[in-house]
Amino acid sequence: TRFLRDFSRRRLFGVAVVSAAVPLVIIALVPNLVIVTFLVVVTGAMAGTACAAGFAIVGHQVDDGTRGRVLAFFAVAPQVLLFLVVAVAPFLSQALTELIRALTGSGNVRVGDVAYPSAGQNLVLLLAALAAVLLGARAYRQLDDRPGMPLRDDLRAAIKGDPIAARPGETGTADLDDAAAGHHGLFIALEGGEGAGKTTQARMLAIWLRDLGYDVVTTREPGATKVGMRLRALLLDTAHAGMSARAEALMYAADRAQHVAEVIGPALTRSAVVITDRYVDSSLAYQGVARGLRAQDVAWLSRWATGGLVPDLTILLDLPPQAGLGRRTRSMDRLEAEPSEFHDRVRAGFLGLARREPERYLVLDATRPAAELTAEIKDRLRDLLPDPVPVVSEADTGSFPAITGDVMPATSQRRS
Ligand code: TYD
Repeated sequence: TRFLRDFSRRRLFGVAVVSAAVPLVIIALVPNLVIVTFLVVVTGAMAGTACAAGFAIVGHQVDDGTRGRVLAFFAVAPQVLLFLVVAVAPFLSQALTELIRALTGSGNVRVGDVAYPSAGQNLVLLLAALAAVLLGARAYRQLDDRPGMPLRDDLRAAIKGDPIAARPGETGTADLDDAAAGHHGLFIALEGGEGAGKTTQARMLAIWLRDLGYDVVTTREPGATKVGMRLRALLLDTAHAGMSARAEALMYAADRAQHVAEVIGPALTRSAVVITDRYVDSSLAYQGVARGLRAQDVAWLSRWATGGLVPDLTILLDLPPQAGLGRRTRSMDRLEAEPSEFHDRVRAGFLGLARREPERYLVLDATRPAAELTAEIKDRLRDLLPDPVPVVSEADTGSFPAITGDVMPATSQRRS
C-alpha cells in the first residue's frame, strides 16, 4: 500500500482480492513446482494487500470507542477462517476426486500432455479462485468511492507515482468547497505574458461593472494578501536567481491558497464579481511549461491550493514577448529577467491551455488598441453576468432591482 500511495484504499481491496485469484488459477492448472512457488508468493502478496486495505477501510469506518474490539475481531477472523480452510480443503479435495472418479472412472485427469493426479485438489483451487473473483468484484462495486473514474487510469497514475485525477466536483480543502461550488458571483481571470495590458483591462472592466451596479473586487497574483506580499517579495527579488523551480511553484501556490481563502472565496460568496490579474494558468504556463515542471503536478498543486475553484472566464491577452517586455517602465524583476526563450515558452503555454478549453477562454490579440480589447471583453461578459442585485435582497424588499440596462435581458435568459 505504500507503493500505491494515493490509490483509493476502497478500490484497492476488491482489486487485490481479484488479483490474488489470477495466480491461483494458474497454480491450479500448471503442475510445475517452480512456477507454483513463485505464484504462491504473488497470491500471498495480493492477499496481504487486500488485508492491509481492508484494515485501513475498517479503521476509518468505526468510531474510537469500538475500534479496538472491531479491529481485534478482524485480526482473529482471518486466522479462524484459515484454520477452517486448512481443515476442510483436504476433505473437499478428496470428495471432488471421488466425484470425478464416479463420473469418469478415474480420479486422475489428463488434458493433452498434462496429467492431474487426484484432480480434486486442482478443482478446489479453481473454486477458491472463482469465489475470490466473485467476492472481490462485489466488494469493488460496493466500496468504490470513485465511480465513473476509470480504474486503469488510477492504477497507471499510482504505479507511475503521478497524482490521481480528482473526480469532477471533488476538491482538496473542505473550507473552500463552498466557494468553489455554491458561489453566486462571477470569477474572471486575466492571463498573459509580461506587459500584455492585464492591469489596464482589469481597471476598465471594474469601472464598467461598478457603473452597472456590481460589487467588483479587482485583485492580483502574487501579492494580494499580507502573506502574499511577502511571498511576492521573495519570488520577484532578482537576488534569488538560483531558486529551484519546485520552491517557486510552491510559493506561487501558497500565495494562491491565501488569495482564495482571504479574498476571492469570501467575495464570491457574497456574490461579487472578482477580476484577478493572473491565476492558476500563470503557474501552468510559467512553472509548468516554461520551467519544465510536470503539468499534472502543477495542476494538482493549484487545485489543492484553491480547493478546485476555477474561473468562469479566463481572458488571455496574447502578445509576442518582446513587445510586452518593451512596454515595461520599471527595472526587470526575477522572472522578467529570464531569457526570451523562457517567455516564448510561457506564451506557447498559455495558448495551449486556451486551445484545450475554448469555451472557458477569450483569447485576444493584445497588440490591438486597449479600448478595442475592452469592448470585446464586455461583449463576452454580458452573457455571463449575474443579476446585479442579490436575489436575497430582492426577496426581502419585494422591490425591482435598481439596476436596469443591457444586462437584464441576458440575466432573464440565463434564469429561464
Ligand atoms: P506581476 O509582475 O504581478 O505581473 P506582470 O508582470 O504581468 O505585471 O507578476 C509577477 C511575475 O510572476 C510574472 O512574471 C509572472 C509570474 N508568475 C508565475 O511565474 N507564476 C504564477 O503562478 C503567477 C501568478 C505569476
